[in-house]
Amino acid sequence: MSKQAKLDLNGSAFTLPIVEGSEGEKAIDVSELRAKTGHITLDDGYGNTGSCRSKITFIDGETGILRYRGIPIEELAEKSTFVETAYLIIYGHLPTRAQLKRFSDLLTAHQYLHEDMKHHFVGFPSTAHPMAILSAMINAASCFNPDLMRGGDAGQFDDHAAQLISQVRTIAAFSYRKSRGLPIIYPKEAYKYTANFLHMLFSTPYEDYELKPEVVRALDLIFLLHADHEQNCSTSTVRMVASSHANMFACAAAGVCALWGPLHGGANQAVVEMLEDIHQSGDDGSKFITAAKDKTSGKKLMGFGHRVYKNYDPRAKIIKRACDDLLNVMHIADPLLDIAKKLEEAALLDPYFVERKLYPNVDFYSGIIMRALGIPTEMYTVIFAIGRMPGWIANFKEITDDTKSRIYRPRQVYVGPTLNHYVPLHDRK
Ligand code: SDX
Repeated sequence: MSKQAKLDLNGSAFTLPIVEGSEGEKAIDVSELRAKTGHITLDDGYGNTGSCRSKITFIDGETGILRYRGIPIEELAEKSTFVETAYLIIYGHLPTRAQLKRFSDLLTAHQYLHEDMKHHFVGFPSTAHPMAILSAMINAASCFNPDLMRGGDAGQFDDHAAQLISQVRTIAAFSYRKSRGLPIIYPKEAYKYTANFLHMLFSTPYEDYELKPEVVRALDLIFLLHADHEQNCSTSTVRMVASSHANMFACAAAGVCALWGPLHGGANQAVVEMLEDIHQSGDDGSKFITAAKDKTSGKKLMGFGHRVYKNYDPRAKIIKRACDDLLNVMHIADPLLDIAKKLEEAALLDPYFVERKLYPNVDFYSGIIMRALGIPTEMYTVIFAIGRMPGWIANFKEITDDTKSRIYRPRQVYVGPTLNHYVPLHDRK
C-alpha cells in the first residue's frame, strides 16, 4: 500500500504522506499542503478532517465499535465503574488497587466547594439552566485555586483533575437544589462518587436518600458510557482551548458550553421533550416520523443519527437494556419508553432513515433512565457533562503533555467583498 498520496494541480505533481493509525485508519497528512501548493483544504463540519493523533478512544462507526484505551465499552459497562474507567481514560491503563484507592481518596478530598462559592449560587435566578450555572461555576471554582490560574505544572495535574471530576458533581447537585429552593446537601465522605451525587441531589437535612443499589448502578453506568468519545464537538472544543495553554477548568467550562447544544449533549433533554410531546398529542409516533423526514418541518428525530456511527451506537444498545432492567426492578411502566421503542422500530424500517444510516445514538434512551431515577429533564445534559469530564481531562492532558503541540488555528476560504473603501456618512444613500 502506497505511503504517499499523489496530487496533480494545474499540471504540477505533488506527493503528500499517508498516515496509518493503530487500527488501520488512513489519513493524508496535509500539514505541508499550503507551503507546497498554495492551496488549503476545505471541509465543512470537519467530516473528513482529523485534528490530531490520539491514544484515548477508538470508534469504528461502520461496525459500531467503541473502546476506551483499547478496552471494549461492553466489557467496561459490565465489569467496571465510572471512577475506575475515568482513571483508565485519563492515565491510559486500568489502576492497581493502590492507584484506584489514591484516586478515590483524591476525589473525596476535593469534593467540597470553597464555602464562598455559595454566594455565586445565590445570584442565579431559580430558573437558570443548570448548564449555564455549570460552565460559570467551573470557572468560578478555579478562582479559589491560584495554582490553576498560574496554569499549574504537571505535578499538580492529579489534584486538578480530581478536583474537577469531584466538584463538577457538587456544583451540579447544588444547582439542582437551588432550582428547587431546597437547602444544599453537602457530600458525605462515606459515600462513593455516584452514591454521593444522588445523596447531594435527593437527601434532606434530616434524612438521607435511600441509595438503592440498582439506582446507583444505573447512574454510574450512564456516567461510564459518556466518559469519552474521541473528537466530538465538545471534546474538540476542549482541545481547541487547551491548545492556547488555558487552564484545565477554563477548557472544561468551554466544553460544557459546546455540549449544551441540542445537536450534541442537549439531545438527551430534547429526546424526552420530543417523546412527551408525542405522548401528549396522542400520536403513536407515525406523525412525528413523517415530520422528521420533512425538511420544512424543522423537526428531527432527536436521539437518532450520528456523524461517526453509521450503525447502532453501542452505548445505545447498553442503555436500552439497562433501561428495561431498571424499569422492571423499579416496577415503573413509562409510556415514553414504549413510544421510544415504537419510534425506533418504525425508523429502522423506514427507507429515509435506512438510506441515511440513522440509528439510535447514546441520547435516545438515556433520558428515560434518568426520568426513572427522578432526575429532572433540565439536568440531563449536566449528567452528560459529569460523565464526559474524564474524557475532556484526558484530551487536555494529551495536548499539554505534547511539547510539540501547536495552537489550533484553522484557515478559511474568504468569500466576502473584495477591496472596498470608507464612504463618509453624508455621502451614503
Ligand atoms: C452526541 O460526535 C459525537 O461523538 C457526539 C456524541 C458524543 O458522545 O460526544 O456521540 C453525543 O452528540 C450524539 C448526537 C446527539 N444529537 C442528536 O440526536 C440530534 C439529532 N441528530 C442529528 O441532528 C444529526 O444526526 C447529528 C447532529 C447527530 C449528526 O449530524 P451530521 O453528521 O451533520 O448529519 P447530517 O445532518 O448531515 O445528516 C445527514 C442526513 C441529512 O439529510 P439529507 O440532507 O441527506 O437529506 O440525515 C438527516 C439530515 O437531514 N438526518 C436526520 C437526522 N439526523 C440526520 N433527519 C431526521 N432526524 C435526524 N435525527
